[in-house]
Amino acid sequence: MAVGTTGWDALAAQHLRMTQSGTTIEGMFARDPNRIEQMTHQCGSVMVDLSKHLIDTAALDTLLALADEYNLNDAIHAMFNGDVVNNTENRPALHVALRGHVPASMPHVAGTVSETLTKMRRFIEQIQSGEWQGFTRHRINTIVNIGIGGSDLGPAMVTAALRPFHHPNLRCLFVSNVDPAHIRSVLKDCDADKTLFIIASKTFTTLETLSNARLAKEWYLSEGGTEQDIHRHFVAVSSNVSAAASFGINPDNIFPMWDWVGGRYSLWSAIGLSIALATSMSVFEQLLAGAAEADSHFLTSPLKNNVPVLMGMLAVWYRNFWHCDSHVVLPYAQDLHLLPAFLQQLEMESLGKSVDRHGCALAAQSGPVIWGSAGTNGQHSFHQLLHQGTRMIPADFIAVAHTSCVDDQQQHQHLLANCLAQSRALMCGKSYDEAREENIKKGLSAEQSSILAHHRQVPGNRPSSTFVLSSLNAHALGTLIALYEHKVFVQSVIWNINAFDQWGVEIGKQLSGPMFDALGGDEQAIKSLDASSRYLINHMTKPERNVHGQ
Ligand code: F6P
Repeated sequence: MAVGTTGWDALAAQHLRMTQSGTTIEGMFARDPNRIEQMTHQCGSVMVDLSKHLIDTAALDTLLALADEYNLNDAIHAMFNGDVVNNTENRPALHVALRGHVPASMPHVAGTVSETLTKMRRFIEQIQSGEWQGFTRHRINTIVNIGIGGSDLGPAMVTAALRPFHHPNLRCLFVSNVDPAHIRSVLKDCDADKTLFIIASKTFTTLETLSNARLAKEWYLSEGGTEQDIHRHFVAVSSNVSAAASFGINPDNIFPMWDWVGGRYSLWSAIGLSIALATSMSVFEQLLAGAAEADSHFLTSPLKNNVPVLMGMLAVWYRNFWHCDSHVVLPYAQDLHLLPAFLQQLEMESLGKSVDRHGCALAAQSGPVIWGSAGTNGQHSFHQLLHQGTRMIPADFIAVAHTSCVDDQQQHQHLLANCLAQSRALMCGKSYDEAREENIKKGLSAEQSSILAHHRQVPGNRPSSTFVLSSLNAHALGTLIALYEHKVFVQSVIWNINAFDQWGVEIGKQLSGPMFDALGGDEQAIKSLDASSRYLINHMTKPERNVHGQ
């Protein structure tokens, strides 16, 4: 963690200077006519406008100097070279190899990735052509991806985002929660003889996924499927081939994963099988190409023009110097409605750490809370807090310039207008005098106008980025997602944390075992629990009561 270094102290001084001088975002535009030129960047078909950020040239230079002080460039090359950046699991993090950036020292990786893509391509052809048939010899018309976390969020998000590119004869559904209501709500719309399940699990030990896989298999058998036809209806994506085979998956139907790809970074692997099935292998390859474009940009662009570097360093600026504890993602595209949930895992499972790479307590704050929802819906939900709440929450607006709904251009224009209005409102706000004047023009008395103006004023000076995709296609989406992956890596370098492990998820899994046993009446397990858990289990296991609690 950079705290206490000259770079960190210099940045603290920049923050003090900006706050003491009352620097505003609007004021910086007035002072610097070149601000747009300096603060907008292009990566592939994604344009990023960083000009509405609470940072001026001097502070930005100091921020990038901190990146230099922490040898960010070396860290980036180390990750791309396959160094053991995931030090607690003794693994490299080579999701970039899945889209062509293979370390020269690991030629075998290129081969295994290529073989997997070939296997995926053949499988997609078989399913989409109808060559692959179910137990009644009908073609498959429904794919159900059973997975959770990185084995669900990425594939589900990308599949939803690429809705206009969906295959006409194949729909792709997703099951993740161990709550049986989830899989039951999906299965009710499926025909067992035309449904293929993808059991997506890197470890093939995840309770939710194995529970749902077992339920899916029971359903398949209850609907007329047979053991000998299992291979027609179940495939797996996993690094644990033996466990998948033990479940009953035909080894030929197991798509490999590797320990050098983290779950939340794995949609580019065979975990993306559902994406390719829902669209096409060609679309999936465009997704990979878009990510590769971001990889090249990240690897070769000077820090001051490097989009993920700027995204990550701005995140450090707001987290550690403006003390912002959350960051909101606002995709102004309904097809991107799952993006905030995907980014929650990517960012919070990577940066939600309190010790550094060596296990020492961090000296400053690390990952913020990531949240958000599709615009314009958020405007009718939480934007009130963004505009008039007591906390500053940096925002990412994501807009798609050209809609796929070509007949609805004017309605799309309203979407874009709202996106632009919101980022402008966060920046400009509304002064007391402006609010008071508006009240008077509405016919309120001078006294009423003054009173209400206190409630209608908006502080403004709240920062945001705006990402603009020319259109929502696989290439642009791949670039956008990879930019966020690399942004997270940048933050992890400055905070000196391991972005690729997730030890914190183990405790819940460990404690759920005894809870399960206690809920089943196991006296030993009940005795081992705290008073609250015992009380709750006792309450939950009583007979169902009526609306009056009797
Ligand atoms: O949330 C913990 C986690 O290990 C994630 O990192 C991972 O994406 C998810 O569970 C699912 O893991 P698997 O793909 O091994 O089932």
